[in-house]
Amino acid sequence: MADKLIIFDTTLRDGEQSPGASMTKDEKLRIARQLERLKVDVIEAGFAASSNGDFEAVQAIAQAIRESTICSLSRANDRDISRAAEALKGAQRARIHTFIATSPLHMEKKLRMTPEQVFEQAKLSVRFARNLCDDIEFSPEDGYRSEMDFLCKVIEAVIAEGATTINVPDTVGYAVPELYGQFIKTLRERVPNSDKAIWSVHCHNDLGMAVANSLAGVKLGGARQVECTINGLGERAGNCSLEEIVMAVKTRRDYFGLDLNIDTKHIVAASRMVSQTTGFVVQPNKAVVGANAFAHASGIHQDGVLKARDTYEIMRAEDVGWSANKIVLGKLSGRNAFKQRLQDLGVALESEADVNTAFARFKELADRKSDIFDEDILALVSQESVANDNENFAFVSLSQHSETGERPHASVVFTVAGKEVHGESDGNGPVDASLKAIESHVRSGAEMVLYSVNAISGSTESQGEVTVRLQNSGRVVNGVGSDPDIVVASAKAYLSALNKLQSKADRVAAQG
Ligand code: KIV
Ligand code: ZN
Repeated sequence: MADKLIIFDTTLRDGEQSPGASMTKDEKLRIARQLERLKVDVIEAGFAASSNGDFEAVQAIAQAIRESTICSLSRANDRDISRAAEALKGAQRARIHTFIATSPLHMEKKLRMTPEQVFEQAKLSVRFARNLCDDIEFSPEDGYRSEMDFLCKVIEAVIAEGATTINVPDTVGYAVPELYGQFIKTLRERVPNSDKAIWSVHCHNDLGMAVANSLAGVKLGGARQVECTINGLGERAGNCSLEEIVMAVKTRRDYFGLDLNIDTKHIVAASRMVSQTTGFVVQPNKAVVGANAFAHASGIHQDGVLKARDTYEIMRAEDVGWSANKIVLGKLSGRNAFKQRLQDLGVALESEADVNTAFARFKELADRKSDIFDEDILALVSQESVANDNENFAFVSLSQHSETGERPHASVVFTVAGKEVHGESDGNGPVDASLKAIESHVRSGAEMVLYSVNAISGSTESQGEVTVRLQNSGRVVNGVGSDPDIVVASAKAYLSALNKLQSKADRVAAQG
């Protein structure tokens, strides 16, 4: 029997550390359910000690998810570890993931600790954590830039204290495949009790090699857990992408010889969900989940694929959840058909009341747009989850006037804590006027650092999906809104970003 490769997803923790990718508790819960549907082995749900919001999200996920192990990150100190253990209470299977930096640079400049102090703290933290939970992962942060002898000493000690998984991060994406693979192999050979733990790889993508490095850690180094995120979301250039690592190991099973639990047909839905929730658009030529990943434009390729699919396709689009852009529902579709389509798309709404609200939105959309595609439904329910999250600001209506040679004017009605308010403004264009109309009332003072529009199903008849990134007092958030009218989509995205700015106010910056 082949060995199994454990897939550890950290979209909700390392992915969320990407500037602007912060998610609300409801959004995280929804993504966690999709990860469970994907059959991810371990879900890192957050960093419980970093904020009350993160604590509550980890807690909610630990209580809701039954099939995957739920993990919380924690620094190597008793307070963080206790907080993680508390948030994980009620989980079917829980893991505490504790970390401390071990590279000379991080120890001296960031932690201002001596190697001896770091060694002691790592040991004591794992001992403390092991009294609270049986499943303990330890990460020497910036492990790949750590000194080999010291790293071996720390890892041996934490395994002796009961760490069950040893994760070796390339925190800054400095590694190259052969060297990283060799690094893991050497560690496993030199640490005397290395066989008492599962070895894990965690690679960042600064040089575009996170997936290649992770695969080398598995193949050359013998690691049996990979840490990754949906769409490769993560700090700076991101983390190793789940869809790429999974499809590489699956498609090249002849080479890797490893089995996976992952149910790959939920990959595309997971990718869309993460992209629509965070506003991080997936590039069209992204492997596996990009819009062009299975598109054949050149005549020679099309001809080849029609004659024999495997001439130009190494994976089947339907195996990762791509379905043809088909009209799925329309104005006359009933609640049952809508509910069935949600199920087929792998979307589980919390309650019948949520289904009713989403169905009402669907009917509203179907009145304005004759053909409803899967993408429209996914956008609609992703707004639904945003709308449920005790939002302060909500869109009501908008009117705007623009004419060649005249300065556009907009008037926007929205609610603030349930009370209807109204803002008006001129602007350079109708979108500018609408957002200024909102700002004339809210006066958030936030700076817009990104504005982008995407046609959800690829034609002028489709809904526009707008992402707005706002920055205020060092906080960066993305808001997403969709509507057949891109001015309305922009106003919704702006209000969604304002909601996130508020809900993020109590957070402390996560480390790692
Ligand atoms: O990149 C990193 O070092 C991390 C650790 C906290 C595992 O994310
Ligand atoms: Zn990381």
